[in-house]
Amino acid sequence: MNGAFNVDGDAYDDFMGRYSRLLAVRFADFAGVEEGMRALDVGAGTGALTAELVARGASVAAADPSPEFVAAFRKRFPEVEVHEAPAEDMPFESGAFDVALAQLVVAFVSDAPAAVTEMARVARRVAVCMWGVEEVDMFAAIDRTAEAVGASRAAEPRRFRTPREIHDLLAPLGDVESAELDVTAGYRDFDEFWQAMNRGVGPAGQWVASLGPEQREHARKELSRELGSPQGPFELHARAFAAVVTPA
Ligand SMILES: C[S@@+](CC[C@H](N)C(=O)[O-])C[C@H]1O[C@@H](n2cnc3c(N)ncnc32)[C@H](O)[C@@H]1O
Repeated sequence: MNGAFNVDGDAYDDFMGRYSRLLAVRFADFAGVEEGMRALDVGAGTGALTAELVARGASVAAADPSPEFVAAFRKRFPEVEVHEAPAEDMPFESGAFDVALAQLVVAFVSDAPAAVTEMARVARRVAVCMWGVEEVDMFAAIDRTAEAVGASRAAEPRRFRTPREIHDLLAPLGDVESAELDVTAGYRDFDEFWQAMNRGVGPAGQWVASLGPEQREHARKELSRELGSPQGPFELHARAFAAVVTPA
C-alpha cells in the first residue's frame, strides 16, 4: 500500500491536498484543538493537518513512515518536530500530548487497532477520520469509470470507510463521539482534475497509472462524463467520518 504514498509532496497536494486542507479545519474543531495544546499529527503526510494545528497556536509534533513525505514536511515546517515512524510504534513518552490526531490514515496502517492503542498511550485524547467512498464525489466517479472502462481496480484497502468501522476502531478505548465532516473542493477545469489524477497518488492515481494509453484516454472521457462534462470551473463534495475518544 505504501507505494501509493511514496510520491513527491507536490503530487499528493495536487490530488488530495485541496480536500485535506479543508478537512483539517473541520477535524481540528471536532477534536477540540485549541491554542497552547500539545497536539500530535499521526501519519502527517505533507502536513495538511499540521498547518491547521500550527495556525491554531497548538504545540505540534508529527510522525509518518514515508521518507518522501517526511522530507517534504521538514521543508515546509522546519520548526516542527517530525519523526519517520509508523503510528503503531512512535518515539514519544507516554502522556506527552493532549491530543493525537490521525487524518486519513487508519485505512493505510497495517495494524489499525495497534495504531490507536499507541496513540492513546502518548495522548489523553485520540481522534481519527477517513473519507467515505460513496460519499466522496471523486472516488465514486472513479469507481463508476473503472466499471464503464472495464479496467477493474486492484483490490485496495477499503477498511474504515464507514461510520460504524470508525466508531468500532476506537470503542475499545472508551466512550466514542462520532461526526460527519463535509468539505467542497474547487477545480479550475477538468484538465486540472485529470492532471492531478495522473500523478500516481493513492489507490486511484495508481489505477490510472496502470492503464495503457488507449484505456487511459477512454477513462479520461468517461470520467469527464461522470462529472457532468464540466466546461470551466466545478466543485466536488467529500464527506469524512470521524471519531474521538478520551480514554478513562
Ligand atoms: C492519505 S495520506 C494522509 C496524510 C495527511 N494526514 C493528510 O491528511 O493529508 C495517508 C498517510 O498515512 C501514512 N501512513 C501509512 N502507513 C502508516 C503507518 N503505519 N503509520 C502512520 N502513517 C502511515 C502515509 O505515509 C501517508 O502520509
